[in-house]
Amino acid sequence: MKQTAKTIITVLLAVLTAGTAYGQNKNNMDDKALVVFFSHAGENYSVGNIEEGNTKIVADYISEITGADQFEIVAEKNYDMPYMDLIKVAQDEAKAGELPAYKGDVDVAPYDIIFIGGPIWWGTYPQVMFTFFKDHDLSGKTVIPFTTHEGSGLASTVRDVKNAWPKATVKDGFAIYGHEVRSGRAKVEKWLKGLGW
Ligand SMILES: Cc1cc2nc3c(=O)[nH]c(=O)nc-3n(C[C@H](O)[C@H](O)[C@H](O)COP(=O)(O)O)c2cc1C
Repeated sequence: MKQTAKTIITVLLAVLTAGTAYGQNKNNMDDKALVVFFSHAGENYSVGNIEEGNTKIVADYISEITGADQFEIVAEKNYDMPYMDLIKVAQDEAKAGELPAYKGDVDVAPYDIIFIGGPIWWGTYPQVMFTFFKDHDLSGKTVIPFTTHEGSGLASTVRDVKNAWPKATVKDGFAIYGHEVRSGRAKVEKWLKGLGW
């Protein structure tokens, strides 16, 4: 009798635990994820002249860990210039609220979860990312912002993403120093684990 009660409790606990685990890990069980990102290779602050942008490295970690597809926002205009020149160009764009065009596109309809990532340029994402925001409706989807930066953290990106899609569920963002990303896979893993992956 005592043994039967024990067995029932064990089975109940197993069922409850499985239910909780399912709830927590819902993300990687049935949701389809996409990483939308912008990243600038070339001369950059603190890391010198890089062949692969800092944010792209984080985007790749996310895809490796979660299986998410990717869409890289590539501006039609050329940002291939020395860091100090780019600083000025980016500032002018931000001040003017310019919306630079980007190459190609992605259909976001099949995706439940969209990671949005980019470097901080003058306190938020580069303007070309706002062009993408304007062109796509992510209402009803889960949006997960992330940034690479050199001191500003998330800056105003989470607020800007919420403003772009008030009807999306916007999760807490993740920020990592650009000069840390090459040795920072574990930090990205830890963050994603906290989200259920
Ligand atoms: C035009 C420009 C503006 C930047 N503005 C900021 C800033 O406001 N705050 C900050 O912390 N880092 C700033 N940075 C540094 C970048 O956010 C950082 O180097 C980032 O990791 C670059 O990512 P990427 O290689 O993916 O483009 C700026 C870099 C550039 C090129």
